[in-house]
Amino acid sequence: MTAMTPPRRAAAAGDSRRQRIADAFSRAAAGYDGAAQLQQAVADDLLTRLPQTASRRALVDIGCGTGYLVSRLAERHDGPAIGLDIAPGMLDQARRRHAGRSIHWVTGCAESLPLAAGSVELVVSSLAVQWCDSLEAFLREAARVLVPGGWLGFTTLCEGTLVELQQAWQQVDGAIHVNEFLPEARLFETLRAPGWRPAEVVMTTRRTHHATPADTLRALKRIGANTITASAAAGGGLSGRRRFARLAQTLERWREPAGIPTRYRVATVLMQRHTQQD
Ligand SMILES: C[S@@+](CC[C@H](N)C(=O)[O-])C[C@H]1O[C@@H](n2cnc3c(N)ncnc32)[C@H](O)[C@@H]1O
Repeated sequence: MTAMTPPRRAAAAGDSRRQRIADAFSRAAAGYDGAAQLQQAVADDLLTRLPQTASRRALVDIGCGTGYLVSRLAERHDGPAIGLDIAPGMLDQARRRHAGRSIHWVTGCAESLPLAAGSVELVVSSLAVQWCDSLEAFLREAARVLVPGGWLGFTTLCEGTLVELQQAWQQVDGAIHVNEFLPEARLFETLRAPGWRPAEVVMTTRRTHHATPADTLRALKRIGANTITASAAAGGGLSGRRRFARLAQTLERWREPAGIPTRYRVATVLMQRHTQQD
């Protein structure tokens, strides 16, 4: 396959943050599939919206994790399929899980893709872009590797995600312990990037429920997302145990019959690269 180029080095400033993200996902890889029901449902929905590919060029799934989405797409695609992720542990898991499938597993960063310009006809990504430093950089890279007329389909998380935890932490110590997710207006503005036809965007709210506050935090850890919430034992004047007790008490106020809710505000985006005639 000729689509691959050697990995480019990420900018130093973002390196340590990316390393932490990669390490957290690598650590979570073995147990990820057992805890990723929401991620799978989001990927399934994206699959129903993607256009059918027509040529024998490559498709790439960016932030492929254990390979669920790329393996489903590879079944209906004639060209090479690439699963790319920043976390080597996720790729090891993907390789094992899809052994015998002709999928190329590549370590790389969404913001600096190790792929040749104009080498791909379909770029997909599900629930990975919110980990990037810059949505603009992701879009620029997707536009660079796509052929004219090629498609990008991705899902990401917007403001409103993990709102229960965010507010609970605020009441514990007034600090922000949860990643900042992109406001919807910013998402729409950023999608008006040069080189693309107008984007189709579907916004949905999904919720998971857990029996206890501890289960809620454990579930985030199991999908590798613990770097977005500070440890209950970290910093602050209160001891770890007291901080957690207070967090738990505040989360309890959100309780519904199904359990403690965790909200995800999901954007599903479909965009087409300009053709040469546009
Ligand atoms: C929540 S998981 C989603 C995995 C998979 N797409 C799914 O839907 O199950 C996020 C994935 O994005 C990867 N990731 C995070 N930042 C990335 C980056 N800058 N470039 C490539 N992958 C990244 C993580 O390693 C992780 O595998």
